[in-house]
Order: sequence, then structure tokens, then C-alpha cells
Amino acid sequence: MALHTLTIASHQLEFQLPVNSPITDIEWEAGGKNVIPLGCRVGACGACLIKVKSGLEALNPRDGDEEAFIEVLGYTGEEYRLACQCLIRGELAIEIIG
Ligand code: FES
Repeated sequence: MALHTLTIASHQLEFQLPVNSPITDIEWEAGGKNVIPLGCRVGACGACLIKVKSGLEALNPRDGDEEAFIEVLGYTGEEYRLACQCLIRGELAIEIIG
């Protein structure tokens, strides 16, 4: 199975995830620690807000609900994502905001 590297630039951490995994799966690799803050896990609380530093094309696209909620949180730009809505499909580097 192909693995992709998720780099969390703000924490200087790297994780390997299978293609199409939710990036929040790193909590299993991190021994149950919430490296990415999580709340609702369904795109409704904003706890998991991230900024994509590189590899934006390696994620599933934002849908309208995610885009609208991120704007409500005060962020514009497609580099802002809710981690709980992201599936990894290539090399990716992020910064945790939430
Ligand atoms: S965990 Fe609530 S929006 Fe992602």
C-alpha cells in the first residue's frame, strides 16, 4: 500500500499515512495524542483548522460547507482546511492553527 508523508511544520513532526486516509489518523501513530486538536470530527466546530504549507493538490477538494465555515472562522484562501475533512493523496505539509 502506498504511503504518503504528512509533515506538521509547526511541530516538526512527520507521519506516514496510506493513500486516502483521513489526516486525523495520525492520532493513532502518535500514540493517541491529539497532535491536531479535534472536537466534533464532522466539520462543525473549527478545532482542527490547519493551513496547508505545501501539497494542496494532495488533498481532496474542499466542499461548499467546509469553505463557508472556514470563512465564518475568519479565514479565506483555499490553503485553509478543516483537518477532519481532509484525505491525504500525496506528500503534504501543514501548520496547525486551531
Ligand atoms: S474537529 Fe470539528 S471541525 Fe474538525
